[in-house]
Amino acid sequence: MKKTILILLTFVAMTSTGLVLTSGGEHLEKASINVDDKASLQRGVKVFTDYCLSCHSAKYVRFNRVATDLGMTEEQVMGNLNHLGTKFGSTMTAVMTPEYAKQAFGAVPPDLSLVARSRGVDWLYSYLKGFYADPSKTTGHNNIVFKDVGMPNIFWKQEGVKKPLIEDHDGEKVIVGTEVVEQGTMTPEEFNAMINDLVAYMSYMGEPNQSYRKSLGVYVLIFLVVLFGFAYAMKKDYWKGVH
Ligand code: HEC
Repeated sequence: MKKTILILLTFVAMTSTGLVLTSGGEHLEKASINVDDKASLQRGVKVFTDYCLSCHSAKYVRFNRVATDLGMTEEQVMGNLNHLGTKFGSTMTAVMTPEYAKQAFGAVPPDLSLVARSRGVDWLYSYLKGFYADPSKTTGHNNIVFKDVGMPNIFWKQEGVKKPLIEDHDGEKVIVGTEVVEQGTMTPEEFNAMINDLVAYMSYMGEPNQSYRKSLGVYVLIFLVVLFGFAYAMKKDYWKGVH
C-alpha cells in the first residue's frame, strides 16, 4: 500500500513539475530561466517583438493575452511591442511574407509559438548563442547546433565576432564551441542575460499555463499527503479491534 502511494506521488510530482526526459543535447549549454519572473518575461517579449517578428510569426500568441499574463497595460503592449499596429487582440504576425523570406534566406522562417516545446529551452539558448563567422556562407555565419542554418546572425552587433573552437578528434575536425574574438556592444554577461530573458519568454509562449500547472501540482501533492494521513488514521481505527 505504502509502495503504491509512493509510486503514485512520484508520478504526480514528475508530471506536475514537467520533469519529463528529453532526448539528445550532448553539447547544449544550459538556459537559466524563470518563467515566474515577470520582469524577465517582459524584457524577453521586448527582444522577441523587436528582433524576431520581422521574419518569424507567433500565430498562437495574442498581444492581449501576453499583456494579462505578463502584467502589462494595453498602452505598453501597443506602444512597445505591436510594431505592425494590428489590433490588441490579434496574434503575432511576421513583417516579412513567407515567400519573400524563402527567396532571401533559402528557407521559410518557421512559426515560433511552440518552438520551445519542440526544441527545448537549452537547445534554443545554445542556438541563439551558437552563431559563428563562416565566410563560406551567404549570411557570413554558421551555427554550432544548427549546421548551415538559413537564419542570419541577428545579434552579431551585441555579441561581437565569434570564431569556432575546433578540436582534432582522431584526425577529424570537430567544432566543440565558439569564442568571441571581437567584443560586441554587450559584455558576455549582458548578452547571456538577454538571451535567457528571450528564452524564458519563448518558454512561456510555448506553454502559457505552465506556472499555473506547476502550482496546481504542488496543491495536488499537498492534497494527496493529507488524504494519505486520513486514510492511514482510518485504517488504524478500523483494524484496532481486530489484532
Ligand atoms: C532575417 C530573418 C530572421 C530573423 C530576424 C530571425 N530569424 Fe530565426 N530563422 C530565420 C530563417 C530563414 C530560419 C530557417 C532556417 C533554416 O531552416 O535553415 C530561422 C530559424 C529559426 C529557428 C529554428 C527553428 C527550428 O526549429 O528549426 C529558431 C529557433 C529561430 N529562427 C529563432 C529566432 C529568434 C528567437 C529570433 C529573434 C531573436 C529570430 N529567429 C530572428 C530567419 C530569421
